[in-house]
Amino acid sequence: MAELCLGLATSHLAHIVNARDAGDSAKVAAFDAGYARLAAALREAAPDACLIVSAEHVNKFFIDNMPAFCMGLFESFSGPVESKARDVGYPWREVPSDPGLARYLIERGLDEGVDWAVSEFWEVDHGMMVPLHKLDPEGRVPMIPVFVNCASAPMPSTRRCFAVGRWLAEAIADWPGSRRVGIVATGGLSHSVGTLDQGRIDVAFDEWFLDRLCAGDGEALAGLGDAEMMEAGSSTGEVRSWIVLAGAFAGRRAERVFYAPIEGFDTGCAQAVYR
Ligand SMILES: [Fe+2]
Repeated sequence: MAELCLGLATSHLAHIVNARDAGDSAKVAAFDAGYARLAAALREAAPDACLIVSAEHVNKFFIDNMPAFCMGLFESFSGPVESKARDVGYPWREVPSDPGLARYLIERGLDEGVDWAVSEFWEVDHGMMVPLHKLDPEGRVPMIPVFVNCASAPMPSTRRCFAVGRWLAEAIADWPGSRRVGIVATGGLSHSVGTLDQGRIDVAFDEWFLDRLCAGDGEALAGLGDAEMMEAGSSTGEVRSWIVLAGAFAGRRAERVFYAPIEGFDTGCAQAVYR
C-alpha cells in the first residue's frame, strides 16, 4: 500500500523566473516565499515519487489529437521546451520519472474506466518546468507528468477532473508495495491569455476557489461550469489541475500558502498544500 503523503498546488507562470520586474516587488517576494514553503514541504514529506498535473500550452498536444488526460511513461522527461526557441531564464534539464508507478496507474485505469492517453516521449513546457525549477531544481524526486486538457474545447468537466483525482488516490493506496507518493498540481488561478480581457484578475473568483479548497469542499469545485470559469478569465480553466488534486484529497482541507493578484503577471497567483 502506498501513502499519498503530500499535495502541492501552485500557479505556474514563468514571470517568477524571467519577468519578475513586471510585478509588485512585495507580492513577487511573497510568491517566492510561498514557493520556498512548498519546497520545504516537499523535502520534509520526502515522497518516493510525485505526479505533476498541469495544463499545457499547445506545445505538445494540438487540436488534431487532443487527449482529455495523458500520463507520461518513461524513465525521464525534459524541458522547458520553450527554451529551444529562446532564453527563458532557467535551464533545460532532464527530470527523472517513475515508469513502474506510471504503468501501474495506466494499466489499472484501462481496467477501471480512466483511459489515459500515454506519452513515451515528452518535452514539457513551463507549466511543469517552472514549478519544478522552484520546488526541486536538482531533480531529487521522480516526477510523472500528467496532462489535463484545459485549453481546447471540449474539455473534461470539473466533475470528471475531481473523479479522476479520487480514482488516483484509490489506485495509489492500492499500490502493491510500500511507497510514499505526492501530487503537485499547477496552473491558474484567474487569468486571460490572448484576449482583450488579458490583465483582468477575478479576485472574487480566486478567493471563493481557495476558500472552498481550504474548507475541504471539493464538491463545490467539482460543480464549476465551463461558463463560470470562462467568466473568470479565458485561461482560468487551468484550475482543473487543482480540482484533480482536490479529488485526490477529497474531504481534507488544504492550507492556503499564498494568494495575490499580481497585476503585471496578469494572474491571480496562488499556492496551497495538503499535508
Ligand atoms: Fe498555464
